[in-house]
Amino acid sequence: MKNILQGLLVLIVIQFNSGCALNSSSPRQRIPLNDTWKFYQGDVSDGHHPNLDDSAWRVLNLPHDWSIEGPFSEEHNTTIHQGALPAGIGWYRKTFQLPESDSGKFIYIDFDGIHRNSTVWINGYFLGNRPSGYMSFRYDLTPYLQFGGETNVIAVKADNSLQPCSRWYTGSGIYRNVWLEKTSELHVAHRGTFVKTKVKNLSEGVAHLDIRIRNEKGNDGEAIVRTILYNHKGKKVSTSTNTLNLSDSFSAVSQSFKIKNPDLWSPTNPNLYTAFTSIYFDKKEMDRYETRFGIRDLSFEPDSGFFLNGQHTRMYGVNMHHDLGALGAAVNKRAIERQLEILKDMGCNAIRTAHNPPAPELLDLCDEMGFLVIDESFDMWAKRKTRFDNHIYWEEWHKRDLEDMVLRDRNHPSVIAWSIGNEIREQFDSTGIDITRELVRIVKSLDDTRPVTCALTEQDPEKNYIYRSGALDLIGFNYKHEGYPAFPEIYPGEKLIASESVSGFATRGYYEMPSDSIRIWPASYRAPLIGANPEHTASSYDHVHAYWGTTHEENYRVIKTYQHIAGMFLWSGFDYLGEPTPYPWPSRSSYFGVIDLAGFPKDVYYLYKCEWNDKPELHIFPHWNWEEGQEIDVWAYYNHADEVELFLNNVSMGSKKKGDEDFHVMWRLKFEPGTIRAVARKDGEIIREKAIFTAGKTYRIELGPDRDIISADGCDLSFVTVRILDEKGVQVPGADNLVRFMVRGEGRIAGVDNGYQASVEPFQADYRKAFNGMCLLIVQSEKTAGQIEIIAESDGLVTAETIIITQN
Ligand code: GAL
Repeated sequence: MKNILQGLLVLIVIQFNSGCALNSSSPRQRIPLNDTWKFYQGDVSDGHHPNLDDSAWRVLNLPHDWSIEGPFSEEHNTTIHQGALPAGIGWYRKTFQLPESDSGKFIYIDFDGIHRNSTVWINGYFLGNRPSGYMSFRYDLTPYLQFGGETNVIAVKADNSLQPCSRWYTGSGIYRNVWLEKTSELHVAHRGTFVKTKVKNLSEGVAHLDIRIRNEKGNDGEAIVRTILYNHKGKKVSTSTNTLNLSDSFSAVSQSFKIKNPDLWSPTNPNLYTAFTSIYFDKKEMDRYETRFGIRDLSFEPDSGFFLNGQHTRMYGVNMHHDLGALGAAVNKRAIERQLEILKDMGCNAIRTAHNPPAPELLDLCDEMGFLVIDESFDMWAKRKTRFDNHIYWEEWHKRDLEDMVLRDRNHPSVIAWSIGNEIREQFDSTGIDITRELVRIVKSLDDTRPVTCALTEQDPEKNYIYRSGALDLIGFNYKHEGYPAFPEIYPGEKLIASESVSGFATRGYYEMPSDSIRIWPASYRAPLIGANPEHTASSYDHVHAYWGTTHEENYRVIKTYQHIAGMFLWSGFDYLGEPTPYPWPSRSSYFGVIDLAGFPKDVYYLYKCEWNDKPELHIFPHWNWEEGQEIDVWAYYNHADEVELFLNNVSMGSKKKGDEDFHVMWRLKFEPGTIRAVARKDGEIIREKAIFTAGKTYRIELGPDRDIISADGCDLSFVTVRILDEKGVQVPGADNLVRFMVRGEGRIAGVDNGYQASVEPFQADYRKAFNGMCLLIVQSEKTAGQIEIIAESDGLVTAETIIITQN
């Protein structure tokens, strides 16, 4: 018992610090294989050869994305739609030794994702090729390894040279984690467990666990398979034991568990359980395998939307691409967690992984933090969207890719639906019928507990062949919110989710005023936007949007009113690299986010914060630095209050109250310098107050780390918000000062950004221009505990300093 608990403790630690090795007493070891790889950007003819002299290659740690290292150029064949960054071919090599005691073990290498078209060799032997840049895959190294003092060489070629290959930024290289997994010859097979849960009257949970076991012992006999369930407090809640006859190399067992008064999983209480499955042979523990899961019950209803654990729950979701802004595609768990924290704070409870399976860390975090996830597989099937996108691999790979996604992700309680595609071309012709049926069959053969959806654009049921296949459980509509109210009549008995909404354009801190002709653009945006806006910024008032989208308010009015819509997914949560639609070069990242690329919320973020949260909220904008006498619209988003009163230099500009269908109130004022102050009242009591001051001249820099103590693990990050302030501490709206950073001690600069979509400054640099008064410095720890000293300087401004502590 003591041993099991010790093991449990270590395993729990591992779960929360991916990047450490499993405890040595476990028969199974999962070790990160990320450090000290050799990298060469370009092609080499004998890169896989064990004896190749790679001494001149660069040494780096994974995850790594060579595209983000830049530079930006209009000339790159990736085009601005993939972020105007370089792609091409890259080679990675890693040497490692294994102790003699490992011989006889089964040893696998797991790649969470390589972009793209990777080929892998071990000690000169070819292991395989994987075209998709988003799928996780494994190779069995066992037959090729050398032990004792001998060196093993893994070589990986990532070929991202066929361009363009995507409608957004992909990144290039081994951009997700790599793992070495060691097991005995009798072990739980790869992705070999599947937990299904049921809830009876909320007072009893049932977990059903299917386990696939691989036996390469070469002899018969009996094994004992024992699983112990622990709840999130580490308390043992149930046990099940089976005897297994070891006659074949693969066998399966099923176990059932009853859990009284289960702690159900939900976005507000993301309670997790862990199943530890041990296999014993001759009283010896041969394997110990961990499966984390949640107990929850979900259903979609045609008339009333989504129910979680019997409770009507609306999905307040966002679409997210996989890049992490200035860090590119290179996975960093803290960077993903920060994105989710910012979204959670907005009241968001759902993510659609546009338009591919995410890094495993995203789903782990969604399980832990409480997000409902639509896990999506493809942006195209056999018909292309860009010249060299995944359609070229469709025929050979779609089955395997989809299976791998479902097998990898089906134990995550956060995943509540599978999506087989986004705006797939085949919805418009009869080939869509067979492919849809085939894909749904593949998913259902591996998981019959979740609905299968597809994000569609054609709303006429007669003309949509994906719908006509009859195979979808849940209809996803992108945009065209006008069609949603009549859905129950047009699609009787079907269930609806708004899989993409809005597609508004905004640049943080940039505003257009009532007199600007810009306000009438939306209908046909292309020509006027390009001609009229040489600065490549878009209004952060809720006016400008793609012609296929709409304003935030118009969309949300419909979503809020009609309960048969299970929820909505904004396009998009964060700005992302690529797709700078509709702006030309030098724009290279998107304008769609409610949060900019650096992670700074735009104003409309607060509309959702008011609608999706219980906490009182008040947000007013724009800034208060204009021309004397200029006519300025001041908007306020608020909740909980009966009314909001605005004061200009202490003179009341009147109280305003939202109508039933409104999301903001507005005052049109003649600018005079000073202060605007809003006061929100409920039953006559002030519940929130917000003021904005006219800023004076730029005077000093302010550094605001999101965390000033981080782990000394070589991965952890502190995101430092850099503000340009006047002498009184007011942020200066248009400030674009060039800030230079000095980072010393146990950390380094991981990236810099300012959220401006048309900046071509590099992300990996020790300087950044502020944009509308702000920029971002991302520092990363080294593996030694200590401190990181940060100094930020800019000509003519008072310098700022701060210290981040790194600890083990
Ligand atoms: C949708 C598409 C998304 C993104 C968005 C931009 O049609 O599914 O991937 O391109 O438009 O508005």
